[in-house]
Amino acid sequence: MTACPAPAGARAPAAPAVPEGPPSPGAGPGAAPAAPPGFPAPSEDPFSEVAAAEAAALRGRPGREPPAGAGRPAAELVDVSLSYRRGRSRVTVLAGISARLWGNEFVCVLGPSGCGKTTLLNVLAGYALDYEGEVLVDGAPHLGPDPSVGVVFQSPNLFPWLSAADNIGFGLRMLKAPGDRRRARVRELLELIGLENAAQLLPHQMSGGMRQRVAIARALAVDSRLVLLDEPFSALDAMTRESMQQHLRAIWKSAGRCFFFITHDIQEALLLASRIIVMSASPGRIFADFSNPLREDPDADFDGVRADPRFARTRAALLDMIQGNSLVI
Ligand SMILES: Nc1ncnc2c1ncn2[C@@H]1O[C@H](COP(=O)(O)OP(=O)(O)OP(=O)(O)O)[C@@H](O)[C@H]1O
Ligand SMILES: [Mg+2]
Repeated sequence: MTACPAPAGARAPAAPAVPEGPPSPGAGPGAAPAAPPGFPAPSEDPFSEVAAAEAAALRGRPGREPPAGAGRPAAELVDVSLSYRRGRSRVTVLAGISARLWGNEFVCVLGPSGCGKTTLLNVLAGYALDYEGEVLVDGAPHLGPDPSVGVVFQSPNLFPWLSAADNIGFGLRMLKAPGDRRRARVRELLELIGLENAAQLLPHQMSGGMRQRVAIARALAVDSRLVLLDEPFSALDAMTRESMQQHLRAIWKSAGRCFFFITHDIQEALLLASRIIVMSASPGRIFADFSNPLREDPDADFDGVRADPRFARTRAALLDMIQGNSLVI
C-alpha cells in the first residue's frame, strides 16, 4: 500500500499558530469558497491551511487502481451525467462521473447534502435511467434494477408480514431458487449477521439495528457483485451504529463483494472504507477519489484506526474538502 504523502510542513503535530488580527474576508479570484451556514468560514479556521495541504495530499493518492487480482470491475461509470427538470429549465445534478468499482472494495462516498450521492446510487441501482454516459455492472450494460445489484436503504424496508428468514430469502424465492439451497443460504446469512436465533422474528419484534442487519443480509442473499448502501445507519443511536459498523466491516470482509456506501459521517468513512470518493456539488462531480490511508492495515480494529496519528488530520482534510465543495444552489 502507498504511504500517505504530504507536503513538507503539512504534518506538524502541534496546532499551527493562530493568525493575528481579524480573518481576511477572502474576496478575490483565488479566495476560498464561502462556508455553508453554521460552519466557520475557511479563513477563520486556524487549522484550515494544514487541512487544505492534507486534502491536497489525499487527492494525490491513487483510488482508481484495481486492487491486485481484481479481475473485471464490479461496476463502471463512464462519463455519466444526469439532469432533472425544474420548472422550465433543467438542473444538472451529476456531471461527467467516471469511476471503476472493483470487487472486494469498500467504497465510501462523502459529499455535501444535495450534491447527488443518492442520485448516483440510483443510477448504479438501475432506478434512474435517464442519464447520459454508460453504466456497466459486471461488464454488461445496466438497464434497470436486477439481482446483480443489492440495495440497502436508510430505512430497512422489510416486508412486515415476513419473518427475518423469509425477508432474507425473498429475492431467492423470486428467482425460484430450490428450497434447500434457499434455506441453506438464509441460515448462512443469519449466522453472518449474528441473528441465527432470530430467524422467526417479524420486523416489529426486532430492534432497529436487527432490522437493518436483516436488510443487509437480504441484499447479500442474491449473488450480486455490487451492494449499494445509502446512509444505512443514520437513524441509529451511537452505540448501535458503532456495533453495526463492526458487523458491516466483518460482513464485507467475508462477503467478497464491492460495497458502495454513502454516508455523511467522516469518521464512519475512515473506519469502514478501503477507498473514499468525495463529491462536489452543483453539479455533482467526483472531487477526490483515493485509497483510505487509515485502512492500509485492513485488519486494524476501530480503536486502532482512531488512535492512528493520521486520523484527526485526515478527518480535518475531508471536512475541508466537503466544506469547500458545498451546496451553491
Ligand atoms: N426526482 C427528482 N426530481 C428533481 N430533482 C431531484 C430529484 N431527485 C433529486 N433531485 C435533486 O437532485 C439533487 C441531488 O439530490 P440527491 O438526493 O442525489 O442528493 P444527496 O447528495 O443524496 O443529498 P443528501 O446528502 O441530503 O441525501 C438535489 O438538488 C435534489 O433536489
Ligand atoms: Mg441522499
